[in-house]
Amino acid sequence: MSNELAVATEKLTKNGFLDMDIDPSLDLYEEIEKLKKEKNAIILAHYYQDSDIQDLADYIGDSLGLSQKAASTDADMIVFAGVHFMAETAKMLSPGKKVLLPDLKAGCSLADSCPPHLFRKFKEKYPDHVVVSYINCTAELKTLTDICCTSSNAVHVINSIPKDKGIIFAPDRNLGAYLIKETGRDLVLWNGACMVHEIFSDEKITKLMHRHPKAKFIAHPECEAHILEKADYIGSTSGLLKYTQENEATEFIVATESGIIHQMEKYSPQKTFIPAPPNNTCACNECPYMRLNTMEKLYLCMKHELPEIILSERVIREGVASIDRMLEISKRAGL
Ligand code: 13P
Ligand code: SF4
Repeated sequence: MSNELAVATEKLTKNGFLDMDIDPSLDLYEEIEKLKKEKNAIILAHYYQDSDIQDLADYIGDSLGLSQKAASTDADMIVFAGVHFMAETAKMLSPGKKVLLPDLKAGCSLADSCPPHLFRKFKEKYPDHVVVSYINCTAELKTLTDICCTSSNAVHVINSIPKDKGIIFAPDRNLGAYLIKETGRDLVLWNGACMVHEIFSDEKITKLMHRHPKAKFIAHPECEAHILEKADYIGSTSGLLKYTQENEATEFIVATESGIIHQMEKYSPQKTFIPAPPNNTCACNECPYMRLNTMEKLYLCMKHELPEIILSERVIREGVASIDRMLEISKRAGL
């Protein structure tokens, strides 16, 4: 092992990312572009990333788009500017490629709310049920899942299951409740949630709606039912973005992580986007995990090819079928 690699590996073990000095005169945009070419790498970014990372990405999308891209890319290296479960999904879909995540601590409160050993016991109570898991779960949970879904294909996935079959839905109780309403199916829900989407203040949103009577209120289905009830439109991040492009309104109150507003403003510079306020004064509508990724970490990660996502053959083999089924259903639905 080279000395440089040994130092990098030590830093990684301690922090989950490469905490190394960078020459301050370097233009990180240029350096990252150079590394992309040199290593035949692709940067896949979620809409909740900082604006500068979104601007550098080769592809920006929601969880479904990112999975489709990870499955189809011919790059040798996938650099995931997103969170851990997204990078794991990319690795499961492209096991032969090197998949990097700039900070291994970029987790997800929703994925954490469903520990696989507890879910296994829960599942045993419903032996005849089909297990549908939101893609925001660990790779290990995907091995206990029949079909994955994302917020943009969840209704199609539930509707693809024969009516006489019971369904367990994990881990998001809010998306689950929304699906019960949309599909009329009686889902058994795991009691998990996303900390970012449960922080919105009903009262402050109502006040904002009064102050901006012409604004459309749009929300992600991970929000609680009392917030979704107020919404003019409910959808995945890419669904929300598309709605703001196509709807003739010029003001939108947006109940999801505020990173999405960067693309909304880019596509519709003449329109106004107001982030839905949290129930306190913090910036809690920013996902603390997504925002762990920085330009510096992205640069170091591509330079040293660390941290890398490593999964066992068993997890890939037993987990990927649930993602493949989801991609098949999405393809049939034209998504
Ligand atoms: P989308 O698939 O809608 O982008 O959702 C991802 C996510 O993590 C929402 O919190
Ligand atoms: Fe997870 Fe919520 Fe962050 Fe999305 S916004 S990655 S669901 S913690």
